[in-house]
Amino acid sequence: MKQLQITRPDDWHVHLRDNDMLNHVAPFTAQQFARAIVMPNLQPPVTTVKLAVEYVDRIINAVNNDRFEPLMTLYLTDDTSAEEIILAEKSCFVKALKLYPAGATTNSSAGVTDIRKCDAALAAMEETGLPLLVHGEVTAPEVDVFDREKVFIDQVLMPLMNRFPKLKIVFEHITTADAVEFVLNTGLNIGATITPQHLLLNRNAIFKGGLRPHNYCLPVLKREQHRQALLHAATSGHRKFFLGTDSAPHTRDNKESGCGCAGIFSAHAAIEMYATAFEQQNALDKLEAFASFNGPDFYGLSRNTETVTLERTPWVIPDDYPLASGETLVPMMAGETINWKLIQ
Ligand code: DOR
Ligand code: ZN
Repeated sequence: MKQLQITRPDDWHVHLRDNDMLNHVAPFTAQQFARAIVMPNLQPPVTTVKLAVEYVDRIINAVNNDRFEPLMTLYLTDDTSAEEIILAEKSCFVKALKLYPAGATTNSSAGVTDIRKCDAALAAMEETGLPLLVHGEVTAPEVDVFDREKVFIDQVLMPLMNRFPKLKIVFEHITTADAVEFVLNTGLNIGATITPQHLLLNRNAIFKGGLRPHNYCLPVLKREQHRQALLHAATSGHRKFFLGTDSAPHTRDNKESGCGCAGIFSAHAAIEMYATAFEQQNALDKLEAFASFNGPDFYGLSRNTETVTLERTPWVIPDDYPLASGETLVPMMAGETINWKLIQ
């Protein structure tokens, strides 16, 4: 039986939510990963260090796992002050700020309306070294949904990078060949995360035999040529690309709806899905760099010392997971067989 041992991975982009959902999903992430960068798009959003302190306590209670370390982010708004950035940097447990362009995705209405309004905060981040995590899509309704990432690079990211050349930026959940090229052509202060769904699926998966709301996320899945570019980047071993699941749970009812929420839950089998993608590229030897080394190196944190073992043992992913409210959560690859299993 084939086994693969790697340094315990970290998830550099996850949504753990709050309340009942938090209690149900956080243990999945803690079981696989040593650390996770936790997104702040709660309602209301986590905009201050004080709110992050309270949220991190709720996460620690929910996971009940001493080994797991949540790394917190603050939600950037038009009003985020330089003082809040300094507090965040001093806190040691807040590791980044998250930029949601207002209206881009779930709970982003309090997001940034014009990035130039954030200049004071961005200058403080450049100074302190606190990274900016970017949801890289423009929101203008006239821009085609499949072009929003590329237009964001040209209209927002390039000018931002030129105005703050030393700012550390993580281009989150990249989905296009354009984003890969952009990241490769910039300095070492620019990195990117890649999700399992953007490595394993192209946009046909949203329409296979009918409308598939559980394959709908933002940025939306793209053409096969873009998936190939992402696979190539992730499996290249290049230090700028690292694991970020963007696991984003919504109840079944909120997904299977006349106006369904964006988000794919992948925390139940995240490292297994990445292993599947890397195996398809004959690149399992590059999984550890992507999953366990490149992320901490980018953030300036130490690499984990513990290891985990994956075994090539097929298992069937459940159709759904129960939530306390009688609701259910439909995971990525529900009902499908996956060939890898994390055994410890
Ligand atoms: O699909 C997504 N879901 N993309 C995001 O950017 C947000 C996330 C969520 O919070 O549900
Ligand atoms: Zn996200």
